[in-house]
Amino acid sequence: MYLYITTRSETEKELIKAECYAITGANPDDNGIAIIDKPFNIDISKSAYIKTCLKIITHANDINDLYAQLDNLSLNSHRFRISVVKIPKKLEVDSQKVMHEVGARVEGNPDLSDPKTTFIVVITRDDVWFGEVLSESIKTWDEHIHKAQQYSSALPTRLARAMINLVASPNDKIIDPCCGSGTILIEAISMGIKAFGCDNNLLMVQASINNLRHFGINTMVALADARNIKGKFDAVVTDLPYGKNCPIDDKTCFEILDNLPNLALKSAIVTGLDISDLFMKVGYKKITVIPVPKGSLVRYIHVAYIIPDI
Ligand SMILES: C[S@@+](CC[C@H](N)C(=O)[O-])C[C@H]1O[C@@H](n2cnc3c(N)ncnc32)[C@H](O)[C@@H]1O
Repeated sequence: MYLYITTRSETEKELIKAECYAITGANPDDNGIAIIDKPFNIDISKSAYIKTCLKIITHANDINDLYAQLDNLSLNSHRFRISVVKIPKKLEVDSQKVMHEVGARVEGNPDLSDPKTTFIVVITRDDVWFGEVLSESIKTWDEHIHKAQQYSSALPTRLARAMINLVASPNDKIIDPCCGSGTILIEAISMGIKAFGCDNNLLMVQASINNLRHFGINTMVALADARNIKGKFDAVVTDLPYGKNCPIDDKTCFEILDNLPNLALKSAIVTGLDISDLFMKVGYKKITVIPVPKGSLVRYIHVAYIIPDI
């Protein structure tokens, strides 16, 4: 059995759930914990919201039950470290004591700075899990927040990364047809996904190129209108300039959307309004809308498929 620990955020919970399911096949509970027998994936290093994947060694009802189980397990490991995660953080459990007690039940040498094995104790109000960490998020989206050319209209890097994870995997080829300053392209390429972009504003094309270069990335960004572009991709991932304070009109928005099924069978598209009815009109058969509120603004991520269940 595998256990995933996700970020907990009331406002982003739908997106966190969707990303966790897309990457692992498991749905997190209210504690942000997802457990599954046969996951799609144990490498969550590129995830935006999954923090840790562990292989469960044992489950206990409380911490004393865990100690008793460990006494019988005869664990043996060289260069190990114990980490403790409490959910919620304010849970009244002494993490140092747990580390010490668990460490005393593992034979071998602890190595806190360069461990070969990290054991983890996950403690919630009702459960205690003990396991071995298999992968952790390396949070590279965090390094991309400060770009060479910043725009207030740019998508948050973490959100962009999660959107990509909803529809693409490493080695896929995606397109962002309204790429603006290149946030989606940067995130995709840094995850091992081939990504191409275009924008109908030359200044934004140049901004994308500068920002990609800033992070040592080279990819094609074209000056083009999303209504007319051609090509075959695994997915479209884009941030449509549509919604409150929208700079494009309904007709242009519809025409851009209408071209997307020609480019890929699946899309993750964020807008300032729920426009799932328009997705239906242009031929998408399965549409999930994920609201992501931030202050007075709500973004709507549309995950849309031309053929259901691909
Ligand atoms: C919301 S912004 C994208 C922001 C981008 N995700 C970022 O992080 O910088 C939308 C972009 O769509 C572009 N755009 C508007 N109409 C377009 C069209 N018909 N074809 C291509 N791009 C278009 C705008 O120039 C703008 O850069």
